[in-house]
Amino acid sequence: MSKEVNTIGVLTSGGDAPGMNAAIRAVVRQSIYLGKKVMGIRRGYAGLLAEEIFEMNSHDVSETIGRGGTILQTARCKEFKKPEVVQKAADICAKHGIEGLVVIGGDGSFRGATELAKHGVNTIGVPGTIDLDIACTEYTIGFDTAVNTAMQAIDKIRDTSTSHERCSIIEVMGRGAGYIALWCGIANGAEDVLLPEYYDYDEQKIVDHIIEGRKKGKQHHIIINAEGIGHSTSLAKRIEAATGIETRATILGYMQRGGSPTAKDRVYASIMGAKAVDLLCEGKTNRVVGYKHGDFIDFDIIEALDMEKVIEDFFLDTCVSVNAR
Ligand code: ADP
Ligand code: F6P
Repeated sequence: MSKEVNTIGVLTSGGDAPGMNAAIRAVVRQSIYLGKKVMGIRRGYAGLLAEEIFEMNSHDVSETIGRGGTILQTARCKEFKKPEVVQKAADICAKHGIEGLVVIGGDGSFRGATELAKHGVNTIGVPGTIDLDIACTEYTIGFDTAVNTAMQAIDKIRDTSTSHERCSIIEVMGRGAGYIALWCGIANGAEDVLLPEYYDYDEQKIVDHIIEGRKKGKQHHIIINAEGIGHSTSLAKRIEAATGIETRATILGYMQRGGSPTAKDRVYASIMGAKAVDLLCEGKTNRVVGYKHGDFIDFDIIEALDMEKVIEDFFLDTCVSVNAR
């Protein structure tokens, strides 16, 4: 029999992402709209264990939809992988009357959520990560803002790169996933894109490509490198030595995680946050919200975590074909 949920908790966990505030705001406002009590939990699972829990009202989320970061703060909490720690967290939820919990974060945060669900707390995951590396969904909160931030930065680097007829390596975020790199590859018209999923470490191929471009009259050569491959500065030195062309590396870093969210991130995060509350009110647990084929849907968390994320061929093919000349 499904449990009636009258008090809903919300936390953000793992790396922050622009749009998380829109999701928090939606959880708070949708809960209140449906007559539920809502509790904010600061600093992710670490804050839950430290009982950093407070009741939220509608006003607490006023003027937050346009703000980057997360007003609830976020944290990583290694000890949450221990069953006795999860039991303690479930006891704390019970103590504060939290029957349902919305966890906004990535795959790691969902693993924590599924463990909590086993201990009787109804949990719903909402995908929040700039990396877009969650298999069950084509959209994650923050990716759109991050990729636009990176794209604008790369446009600027391209200007100076062209003026000086240099080669530029720009490192974008994505420790295990190359989605930001791939999207920027298309959006910025990069000559080369290095993805952790496919990189073959054939630097001679890159060198040949740069020399070939120069012969055709290209005034710059933009290489977008994903964080997961890294070593952009040393790669730049090797490329300069091999080609004789001045080569500079820029690591964009954490600027990609901040900033005011795009309209898409504000809107989709709002829909996902509200949907998470609806699912809890329907008595659902251990689910994750996703976006696929133009619809907002939900999956069992375990099934979602078992899915494999694949980069569609049309992305890779387009990146190669439309950037070739
Ligand atoms: P993300 O949610 O962005 O993938 P992490 O992988 O750092 O970020 O996970 C965030 C937090 O989720 C971790 O610090 C930990 O508290 C919790 N977590 C991760 N993996 C597990 C797990 N296997 N069991 C329980 N909790 C986990
Ligand atoms: O938010 C995702 C991400 O930016 C990854 O691309 C990166 O590997 C990771 O977070 C780094 O985060 P932190 O330095 O906070 O651990």
